[in-house]
Amino acid sequence: MKYTVLTLFPNMFKGFVDESIIKRAIEAKLIDIDLVDFRAYSTNKHHTVDDYAYAGGAGMLISVEPVHRALIGVEGYKAAHKVLMSPSGTPLTQEKVKKLASYKHLIIICGHYEGFDERVSNYVDEEISIGDYILMGGEIPTMALIEATSRLVDGVINSDSTKEESFSEGLLEYPQYTRPASYDGVDVPEVLQNGDHKKINEWRRYEALKKTYQRRPELLKEAHLSLKDYQMLEEIKHEKNN
Ligand SMILES: C[S@@+](CC[C@H](N)C(=O)[O-])C[C@H]1O[C@@H](n2cnc3c(N)ncnc32)[C@H](O)[C@@H]1O
Repeated sequence: MKYTVLTLFPNMFKGFVDESIIKRAIEAKLIDIDLVDFRAYSTNKHHTVDDYAYAGGAGMLISVEPVHRALIGVEGYKAAHKVLMSPSGTPLTQEKVKKLASYKHLIIICGHYEGFDERVSNYVDEEISIGDYILMGGEIPTMALIEATSRLVDGVINSDSTKEESFSEGLLEYPQYTRPASYDGVDVPEVLQNGDHKKINEWRRYEALKKTYQRRPELLKEAHLSLKDYQMLEEIKHEKNN
């Protein structure tokens, strides 16, 4: 999986590419992250890439030309899937992450300042938002997108980890525990300590449904639920405190 990131602040990615799983994935050549400073594609002698908005408004906008020039300068840009990070984009969900992880080459454009000249959107395949809040730039959203997609690339992490985690089946993940078995008066549930896998799986499913029902009930509408799940949900609804 190849990522080409168009940014005005490539140094922000230094720690990101140099630590932990992302670093190992790059070293193992499972992913490749190329950083392009699109200031280098400015057409003026001061190397500026932003300008005032027509008809006024606070802050500066990134001009279309340097972004377009940087984009067409990327090797393989025609075949690549081009993404603009923007608060007005499609929300990044796990479903969207899976789709994005299926491309061989993503080109991701990070905004800054007040955002972009609207015409930048003519040169991308889609705009992605990481949530309904405004960050100062597209660099952190881009890191979120790279982390979320690269962990689905074969070999980057243990594939079992991605099967049962939150959102993988439309539900939040069940509670998990590690040692000690008892801490500050709170015990690890008995069922997790007795090795009965059938019971453990049932308990986990029940708890995943319960957590989703309590915290993100809207997810249940889209989740793939069995008859048994519906029976569990009825039980959950009738539990005290629900
Ligand atoms: C300060 S923001 C611009 C916000 C813009 N004026 C608006 O109201 O939509 C600057 C850049 O940060 C990035 N950004 C900020 N928040 C984001 C979010 N929630 N999702 C994705 N990108 C975001 C985008 O690349 C954006 O162009």
